[in-house]
Amino acid sequence: MSSFKALRVYQSESGLEPRVESMTVDQLSDGAVVIRSAWSGINFKDALAVTGKGKIIRQFPLNAGIDVSGTVETSEDPRFRPGDPVVVTGCGMGENHDGGFAQMVRVPGDWVVPLQDPLDLRTAMAVGTAGFTAAMALVRMEANGQRPEQGPILVNGATGGVGSYAIRLFSHAGYRVTALTGKPEAADYLKSLGAEEVLDAGELEFGTRPMEKGLWGGAVDSLGDESLAWLTRTVKPWGNIAAVGLAQGIKLNTTVMPFIIRGVSLLGIDSVLCHRDIRLATWKRVAELLKPEDVDAIVTREVGLDGVVKAAEALMERRQQGRTLVNLA
Ligand SMILES: NC(=O)c1ccc[n+]([C@@H]2O[C@H](COP(=O)([O-])OP(=O)(O)OC[C@H]3O[C@@H](n4cnc5c(N)ncnc54)[C@H](OP(=O)(O)O)[C@@H]3O)[C@@H](O)[C@H]2O)c1
Repeated sequence: MSSFKALRVYQSESGLEPRVESMTVDQLSDGAVVIRSAWSGINFKDALAVTGKGKIIRQFPLNAGIDVSGTVETSEDPRFRPGDPVVVTGCGMGENHDGGFAQMVRVPGDWVVPLQDPLDLRTAMAVGTAGFTAAMALVRMEANGQRPEQGPILVNGATGGVGSYAIRLFSHAGYRVTALTGKPEAADYLKSLGAEEVLDAGELEFGTRPMEKGLWGGAVDSLGDESLAWLTRTVKPWGNIAAVGLAQGIKLNTTVMPFIIRGVSLLGIDSVLCHRDIRLATWKRVAELLKPEDVDAIVTREVGLDGVVKAAEALMERRQQGRTLVNLA
């Protein structure tokens, strides 16, 4: 059986040890579909995992990486044939199942999504969990009545993967977007993605009242904590807030007032274990809204397997803008 390379993470007494090493398919976590990987991408969660800054990996050793695109090598699942271009995001890959920072992955058929036109393998991973999550925010918010006439969508953590795609997708879907960032020097980048206005997070007054002046038609929140609490107080009547992330913190200190006086909705976004029908609908929306050239500005870096750890450190230290792709071919 031919060998391939993987970024495999070991646990030792001194912490986590990621190593690029050779493996064979029979050593991988089980599944009906074997995929020859083409691309992966580095998400916030991957950076937490390989730097050991977050408890993401729950069994050791394990190949890291929560996303992968590639072509089916073999399949015991009749829905897939050798050569099919496919994408897998989340589902526990890189957490408790060998993940996408590897030249081969083996997963259950239910995790595998056929690539939809006009996405190609590189574009799909340029999107990755970050873009998929932003698209799920759009799908869920619109299913709950969000419309462009309600006002601008506030996107925070704007230069990050989710934030960047939220700006692209919501602006393509006809919404005005206001980007909130801790990197005001990135204003030109954010405007090139479709943001009409860019706010400096450092200059924000959060206020303290249960409800402040309604400013936003809706919001996509990657931060949690004070930033999310502020959004609950400043979203206009019947707006939706997609709670996506915790880059600032996991607490949420707010009141019921925005929910019972303004009809504001707080929608949970779970890209990892969402139902397959939501997964397929979300990728469909991505394929409808994004063109391959749309991702060019968001992908700011490409690395090989041996560059993943350094790129993850940059992301943890907030030195990274946009997405880093991992070339596995
Ligand atoms: N629910 C889900 O299924 C799901 C899926 C994907 C990601 N997530 C979560 O969503 C969040 C964003 O993910 P991502 O992949 O976009 O990460 P990312 O690329 O690292 O972006 C996060 C952005 O948040 C801002 N930020 C980072 N640390 C911060 C801090 N301490 N305080 C305030 N702002 C901070 C930065 O943007 P600015 O400098 O522009 O402000 C950064 O670029 C993460 O918490 C991630 O775990 C959740």
